[in-house]
Amino acid sequence: MTAFDGLAVGSDVNHEPRCERAMEITKVETSVLEAPAEAVVLGLLADEPLGRAAAALNEACDGLLEELIEREEIATAAEKVTPLLGLRGMAPRQVVCVGLGPRAALDPGVAFRAVGAAARQLSSKERASVAVFLPDDLPPALQEAALAGSMTGCVGQDLYRAEKKRHPFGQLLVDAPQETVASGRALGEGVNLTRRLVNEPADRIYPETFAAEVRRVAEKFHLDCEVWGRERLTAERCGSLLAVARGSAKEPQLAMLHYRGGEGDVPALALIGKGVTFDSGGLSLKPSEGMKTMKSDMAGAATVLGALQAIAALQLPINVSGYMGLVENMTGPDAYRLGDVLTARNGVTIEVHNTDAEGRLVLADALCVAAEAQPEHMIDLATLTGACVVALGTNVAGLMTNDQDWCDEVAAAARDVGEPVWQLPMYDEFDEQIKSGVADIRNTGEGRWGGAITAAKLLERFVDKRSWTHIDIAGPAFADKPLSWCDGGGTGALVRTLVEVARRQSRA
Ligand code: BES
Ligand code: MN
Ligand code: ZN
Repeated sequence: MTAFDGLAVGSDVNHEPRCERAMEITKVETSVLEAPAEAVVLGLLADEPLGRAAAALNEACDGLLEELIEREEIATAAEKVTPLLGLRGMAPRQVVCVGLGPRAALDPGVAFRAVGAAARQLSSKERASVAVFLPDDLPPALQEAALAGSMTGCVGQDLYRAEKKRHPFGQLLVDAPQETVASGRALGEGVNLTRRLVNEPADRIYPETFAAEVRRVAEKFHLDCEVWGRERLTAERCGSLLAVARGSAKEPQLAMLHYRGGEGDVPALALIGKGVTFDSGGLSLKPSEGMKTMKSDMAGAATVLGALQAIAALQLPINVSGYMGLVENMTGPDAYRLGDVLTARNGVTIEVHNTDAEGRLVLADALCVAAEAQPEHMIDLATLTGACVVALGTNVAGLMTNDQDWCDEVAAAARDVGEPVWQLPMYDEFDEQIKSGVADIRNTGEGRWGGAITAAKLLERFVDKRSWTHIDIAGPAFADKPLSWCDGGGTGALVRTLVEVARRQSRA
C-alpha cells in the first residue's frame, strides 16, 4: 500500500491524516501468548466456554480469566471493555477484554462497535502493534466488521491537536484469513475516509477541496471522474443547486464518480450525497448553537465517497456511480432569498420559504443528473433534517422511498451489517404540504410537523419515478459526544450499509 498521497489542490490542509495512511495489517501466525504485539484485544462471547485464544491465556494465568468472568469483574456483555492489569509470562504486555454478548445477538454491528471500543481504549497512547483475537469460529462477515472496527476505533477527530488523544496503531495483527483481512481493511479505510472528511473543518474542506479528494480517490482506484463547476452547472441548468451556492465565495461543484465492475455502462446503483460543506442556514440564519457542527453537513457526500472507495477496493462485480452535490450555504451579498423562485434541472419551479432547507435544493439537481443515467436503483444520503433526529434519535437513520421493495432491500442490508435504520411513511397527504401558490412546489412543509417526510417528498419530485430510497443521516452521521466505539465527530455511519447494498446487488 502507498502512504497517504497528498490532499486537496488549493487547500492548506497540511497535516498528515494518519487515519488513511495505510495501517499495516498482518495475519497473526502465533498463539496469543507469543503474539508479537504489545497489546492484545480479546473478544469474549457471553455464556459460552472460552475460545482457543482465551483458553490459552486463561491457562497461562492459572485460571484467572475464567475466575474474573465468573465473578463478573470481566464483562462479556456486548461492547463492554475490561483491561487486564499485571499479566506476566506472555509476549503481549497488555490485554483488553471486550464482550461480544451472546452469540445469537452477535451481528457485524456488535462486532464492529465492540472491537472498536477496545481499540479506542488502547489508542489512548502510542502502540507499535496490537493483535486482535476473537472466538475461532466466527463467520467472515463478523471478522471483517471487527477488523474495520479496530481500524476506526483507534482514529480520532483530533486532526489539529498537537497532543493527540488517539494514536492509530503502527501495526494491526489479526487472526483471520487473508481475504477477510483485505475486505475488512477496505471497509475500515472507507469508513475512516468518510470520518476524516466530516471532521475536517469547513475552512479546509469546501466544494473545491472536496472535489479534489474525489479526484484523488478516482486516480488511486482508476475510476472515471467528472466535476462540474459553476459555469458547467449553469449550462446544465442546475438552478436549484446554484441558488444555494450564491451566498458563498466558494465555487459550487457537482462531483461524479463511476466505478465499473459490472457489465455494460448503465449503473446498477446510483449513490447521491448532500455535500453542504458548511450550513449557516443562509438568510434564514441558524443560531450559533445549531451552526456549531454544520461542517458535518457534507456527511452524505462523504458517505458516498467512502462507500465508493470501499466498493472499488473490494472490486465488486457491479457498476456504481456516485454524485456529490457540493456547495456552501452562506449569507453573502448575492445570497438566495426567501420568496425567490428557482428552476431545477428538470424544469420544476421551487419557491424558497426557508434558506436553511437547502439540502433538498442541492439534491434536487444532483438527483436529476443521476436519474438521467437511468440507474436501476438510486439511494441518496443526506444530513437533511433536524426533524428526523427528533423522530428517530441520534443513532437511527431514516428511510423514505417510492419503491417499497427497494427500501426493504436497503433495510435488509443495514440489518445484515448491524446499522440501525427505520422507515418513515410517504403518504400522499404530505405532498399537499409542499404545494406553493407561486411555483410548482416550495422548499418547506407547513410548520415543522413531519419535516423529515416533507423534505423527502420534495426529493421525490426529482428522481423521475425511478426506484429510489432516501436515507436521512442527520442523527447518526455526527456524534456530538464521544461514543464508546468512536471518538466524537464523524462516525462513518451507513458506509458499511452501502457496501452491503452493492454486494447484495452484485449477487442479485
Ligand atoms: N443540515 C440541516 C439539518 C441538520 C440539523 C442536520 C441538525 C444535522 C443536525 C438542514 O439543512 C436544515 O437546516 N434543515 C432544517 C429544515 C427546516 C428549515 C425546514 C431543519 O431541520 O431545521
Ligand atoms: Mn440547513
Ligand atoms: Zn443543511
